Amino acid sequence: MSKLRTTVMGRKTSLKRKENVMNSPQRKRSCHEQIKAELLRVASDKEIGYHSFKDLVEIHSIRASLLSWYAKSKRQLPWRRMAVTESDLNKRAYAVWVSEIMLQQTQVATVINYYNKWMQRWPTLQDLAKATLEEVNEMWSGLGYYSRGRRLHEGAQKVLSEFKSEMPKSAEELQKLLPGVGRYTAAAIASITFGQVTGVVDGNVIRVLCRTRAIGADSTSPAVTEALWMLANILVDPVKPGDFNQAMMELGATVCTPKAPLCSECPVQAHCRAYQRVKKEQESISKRLLGNTTSKLSSTSDIEECGSAGGCPLCLPDKESWDSDLGVRNFPRKPTKKPPRTERTLTCVVMRKRVNDDTEEYFLVQRPNFGLLAGMWEFPSILLEAELTEKKQKHLIFDRLTELMGSSVTEANLQRMGEVVHIFSHIHQTYHVYGSSLVDATADAVKQEETEHPSFRWVPEAEFHQSAVSTAMKKVFRMFKHSSRNEKLFDKGKKQKHGPEKNGEEQKGRKHKAPKDSGGRQLSVDNFFRPAVKEPL
Ligand code: ADE
Repeated sequence: MSKLRTTVMGRKTSLKRKENVMNSPQRKRSCHEQIKAELLRVASDKEIGYHSFKDLVEIHSIRASLLSWYAKSKRQLPWRRMAVTESDLNKRAYAVWVSEIMLQQTQVATVINYYNKWMQRWPTLQDLAKATLEEVNEMWSGLGYYSRGRRLHEGAQKVLSEFKSEMPKSAEELQKLLPGVGRYTAAAIASITFGQVTGVVDGNVIRVLCRTRAIGADSTSPAVTEALWMLANILVDPVKPGDFNQAMMELGATVCTPKAPLCSECPVQAHCRAYQRVKKEQESISKRLLGNTTSKLSSTSDIEECGSAGGCPLCLPDKESWDSDLGVRNFPRKPTKKPPRTERTLTCVVMRKRVNDDTEEYFLVQRPNFGLLAGMWEFPSILLEAELTEKKQKHLIFDRLTELMGSSVTEANLQRMGEVVHIFSHIHQTYHVYGSSLVDATADAVKQEETEHPSFRWVPEAEFHQSAVSTAMKKVFRMFKHSSRNEKLFDKGKKQKHGPEKNGEEQKGRKHKAPKDSGGRQLSVDNFFRPAVKEPL
């Protein structure tokens, strides 16, 4: 492996020569045969033997089946088009880089729109490097995991300033030199763009490999992780590594899915140990039902073929852990996730009307440039350290607003609107939403002196939607609009009354999913709202 990598890494060689070397099929094949032989030797180690591939015949058969299935069945995705049609390798690498970063933790369907808009605005890494972080955050708004956009931007600036706009060309260099590019992303860019013969392991590939090789130990353990990378590197096609890697991911995304795998459509069914095991179990049950008394239900030990005398670091943890109802979904196994920590935040939507044209404007403050949602804009918010009565919550908000905008807000003018729940990757966040309109809209009373939040601004509604605001703040705003529209909360001169208090809930996992009701059905955004529980004063 080091031989290929050294060849690929030599940055001093001229780009043209290097590409020729890397793309020469003979060279690739002979290097790869060496790597493969080496890896197969490692793989036949007694620890992984059963979980590896039987022989080269099996490897070739899996590659051929998968590649021909991919050629027929792949989804037409914008970044795939770019990776094939763009002849400039730097532009191609940038296009793949953007897609791979967006696809981390986010589903393809969500990414497509963001990707198209991004590439229209910043078609090259030079264009991206010239953008401001504010513009990048605006473009990323709603996609979540905002540090991804920031790192991509930093990376583009680094390639421009330090490497004269030449993208690093090997997985090792990409990982070492580019912020936010880890082992998976580096291997994906290197194989898809530059044809480097290196496997990839992402969530989809983990599932495909764990099922096909009956790997039932914790898929996040170091032993399994290393085994998976080894298997991916053995299996990757030496002639079409980019297509092969995408085929593995595509199979995991569309056929070998987490909850409803379509085994009958799987091009590698014949090589799948999980499928074989399920079939064997079903045959055994059928025989029993047909009265073949000599055929007892296969015990797990009849089915499990791993030669290891117990304690295999890749097998299911114990025989009892096989669940017949799950079938192939017995693989992969993950440890149960730590539940997200719970936080409560007070947030207040402050509205004013412009004197000259009555345009409604909203007050936003910018978060610090570090930590969660770094640099994003939000309604003035305060993290709650303890449960507080509504009265005390109002005091706190009033103090904060006074600090930010002087005396234009009165406490009596603050209204509780309800709650919005937003689940970040590791935080279950409940926003207690308040609303307020400025009493004296003519007093443009934002204090200009430095405060804890030096950056703040008033924006009309349209600008709010274009701003670098999180999905959570969009939900807060939606609730505010919904409640204030229904009750005309902010009509001047009218007695203000409590509207129907609503709150919102989104059940959002790692991927961006629509909210679900208790029966697991997808709900529309309007269903985020439900009546708030009235707190004692
Ligand atoms: N997930 C991340 N990158 C992908 C790709 N290139 N093809 C399919 N799924 C992916």
